[in-house]
Amino acid sequence: MSPRILTTHTPALLREAVDVAAARLRAGAVVAVPTETVYGLAADALDPVAVARIYAIKGRPPSNPLIVHVAGIGMAQACASEWTPLADRLARVFWPGPLTLVVPRGAGIPDIVTAGGDTVALRWPRHPFMQGVIQACGFPLAAPSANLSNNLSPTSAAHVQAGLGDRVELIVDGGDCNVGIESTVVDCTGPVPRVLRPGILSAEEILAAAGLPAGGRPPGASADPTKPGVVLRSPGMLERHYAPRSRLIVRKWRDADELRRLVAAAGEGDPHRVWVIAHDRVPVGTEFPHVVLIPEDPEAYARALYGELHRCDAAGAGLIVVEQVPDSPGWEGVADRLRRASAAADAPTGAGTS
Ligand code: TXA
Ligand code: MG
Repeated sequence: MSPRILTTHTPALLREAVDVAAARLRAGAVVAVPTETVYGLAADALDPVAVARIYAIKGRPPSNPLIVHVAGIGMAQACASEWTPLADRLARVFWPGPLTLVVPRGAGIPDIVTAGGDTVALRWPRHPFMQGVIQACGFPLAAPSANLSNNLSPTSAAHVQAGLGDRVELIVDGGDCNVGIESTVVDCTGPVPRVLRPGILSAEEILAAAGLPAGGRPPGASADPTKPGVVLRSPGMLERHYAPRSRLIVRKWRDADELRRLVAAAGEGDPHRVWVIAHDRVPVGTEFPHVVLIPEDPEAYARALYGELHRCDAAGAGLIVVEQVPDSPGWEGVADRLRRASAAADAPTGAGTS
């Protein structure tokens, strides 16, 4: 099957894409859609048969719940059994945007969406196509990232086509994703927010919006779900995830000599097989032929990161060496994805991949 691809770069094309996609979604189909974070694989969140198709296409374990995308706070409230004051506050500050709120699950949300859990993850995306298509459908859309389970998330329609082109009937091309990494997921079931998955919205911003003192991490934010005894609150957060096929290491270096030693220590003897992704100590000269420079700004970095990793994979890189990013507020989302991308290939994947 070769997918139909609809573009959205004029108002007329956007309208047509919304109409065609909404018709297919109403018929129970799965459609690959653009959001401002990463591309999603969407289906009617209220139709368990349609949602089952998402899991089948991705090869996603049924234990990993999906995010439900809405087009307004009213629709979010209809998906929740309790719309907590904390969720309301964060939604009013950050929605529409790259923030997912976990709240008690409403009666209309099928088991398959929440993996049987009693909470549901909700997001109102900012991308105009998503807003249009959800409004046209009149129902919320369940959508994980549009990649095979365990692969890198797509930030362009071309990435979706390369990864899932033989498994989806329709891809809506909404351009390159503006944010570039997945949404920040925040548990809003208690009195204080708990960041379950870091993203471009930092814990500090979320605490401030919740009226809590900045600085300290929200309780539970540093809990490592791979450690025994830690309750798995966000099942998708197991270690190796968001990873390219090529081996990736994150390192710090002062100069080209040190970089050369690090690459040799990682067991890669041929500099032509090495891709260096740098933001500060950029190697110059001809020794490393593949050097990628990403600006030292968390938003610009997040926007570029997956595209560069997809390019490394497509080029068959033997080793990707990423310069360590700053350990400062705003960088948590990028640092988290790099840490996961660099986790050893034999680390647990299992139920947590998405
Ligand atoms: O930016 C995003 O969030 C993108 C776009 C498409 O919206 N979606 C995305 O979905 O990244 P996915 O399925 O790849 O990741 C969803 C994450 C997983 O880690 C999943 O375990 C977690 O959200 N999640 C879903 N429902 C949950 C719940 N009820 N409680 C805790 N975590 C949940
Ligand atoms: Mg995913």
